[in-house]
Amino acid sequence: IKKIGVFTSGGDSPGMNAAIRSVVRTCAYHNKECIGIYQGFEGLMTGEFEVMDARSVKGIINKGGTMLKSARSQEFRSHEGRKKAYENLKKAGIDALVAIGGDGTFTGTMVFSKEFGFPVIGIPGTIDNDIFGTSHTLGFDTAQNTVVEAIDKIRDTASSHNRLFFIEVMGRDVGHIALNVGIAGGAEEILIPEEDLGLDRLVESLNRSRKSGKSSSIVVVAEGDKIGKNIFELKDYVDQNMEGYDVRVSVLGHMQRGGPPSCFDRVLASRMGVKAVESLLEGKSNFMVGLLNNKMELTPLEKAIKGKTTINLELLRVSDIMST
Ligand code: F6P
Repeated sequence: IKKIGVFTSGGDSPGMNAAIRSVVRTCAYHNKECIGIYQGFEGLMTGEFEVMDARSVKGIINKGGTMLKSARSQEFRSHEGRKKAYENLKKAGIDALVAIGGDGTFTGTMVFSKEFGFPVIGIPGTIDNDIFGTSHTLGFDTAQNTVVEAIDKIRDTASSHNRLFFIEVMGRDVGHIALNVGIAGGAEEILIPEEDLGLDRLVESLNRSRKSGKSSSIVVVAEGDKIGKNIFELKDYVDQNMEGYDVRVSVLGHMQRGGPPSCFDRVLASRMGVKAVESLLEGKSNFMVGLLNNKMELTPLEKAIKGKTTINLELLRVSDIMST
């Protein structure tokens, strides 16, 4: 392998830039050429490539988003689209790829790799932490810290006005962000898709805490949770079935995906980039790099996509005890 291409695809996440930097510099360290591919799969098909050397990634380790831009592509789902990408890669002399993104990115990359026998390694970049084969995806730690900071601020208003706040956090179909930030932000209840609390139990629990002397409360709601799916209906229901609280909703939205990556995400991104490039140089392909027991490990892309991440039930219990 002489020339490695790197791209980011799907939703951006803090730490993607740090991972690009690591891939580029690991290539430079091993005297390999590195090519940045812009706009994810779109850029593969249009040939939006740029040579990157160690200096071209200066000053990005601390930046959120992705300097290579990101996109979701329909055309890459077709054989014709992927063929265009393959021809562009051949023309540019690129003989392996590092793909940074989530499960959609890995699915496209894996299909492409199998179709054309092209070496690929994936780096999991998403705030959702919904990828099997790594305890942390890139951006998960930063997003949690961002959300906790937001909850702390909302708490000031909640306690000043005796309010009950439902705070909706991202995570797509999983509750990893919600569960951790709920504990860290001192939430009364945490609604996650993996555990069905039910409206009656929620209201019961809020009433109990009201009677125990609490004058304000925060409930963290994962966007993928069944009751939380329409958070404004949830608010109306609680308004009608509870007394004594002024109820408000705060949907945090895309601010959760931005901002400088945490120290943890920068270190993780640097480790993942080194492992990805060195795995390609060792002749490995169709794997994702991940963090397991504080070691960099490889998981087949197929397993990373199909495997389910699990919720740590101990955390739910801790949350219950803390809201006594
Ligand atoms: O996967 C990252 C994520 O931010 C999810 O948490 C969220 O459900 C989704 O992307 C939002 O996607 P979009 O940026 O297309 O609105």
